[in-house]
Amino acid sequence: MKRNPVVPFILVMVFGIVLMFILSFKGLSDMKEVAKENGEGKGAEKTEEVATNPEDIYKSTCISCHGDQYQGAVGPSLKGTGLSKDEVKDILVNGKGTGMPGGLLKGDQVDIMAEWVSKLK
Ligand code: HEC
Repeated sequence: MKRNPVVPFILVMVFGIVLMFILSFKGLSDMKEVAKENGEGKGAEKTEEVATNPEDIYKSTCISCHGDQYQGAVGPSLKGTGLSKDEVKDILVNGKGTGMPGGLLKGDQVDIMAEWVSKLK
């Protein structure tokens, strides 16, 4: 029997293609698992990450526009605004003018920050 010299190459190729399919199917199911883990992980992190300390909230959300000493930068100084808690709350929810974005804070953070800003001196 005369062996065709191309046969070994074809065998390697077929093996390679089969391996590729196996790996990509494994990859797909791994991907789903990773996505699931990430999803759960993120949910857990988020509840932990919502800061409730006004100074932490300030540093992460407001400092870029109101300055590191609340002295003002793009936005006005937040010291001694004379605003009541409710007025600040309204600004935080609805924004003010063109520069102050509303809706930056979630849930309890609005109350916490409104209280804190209204008492800044
Ligand atoms: C994108 C920049 C920006 C960010 C971020 C920002 N502000 Fe402002 N803020 C402004 C500007 C500009 C004004 C002035 C708006 C006006 O009077 O037209 C303002 C006004 C205010 C006022 C009213 C001050 C006054 O004397 O009338 C308060 C209170 C305030 N911001 C609080 C906050 C808090 C708290 C945060 C963080 C949650 C925050 N701001 C984040 C830009 C910003």
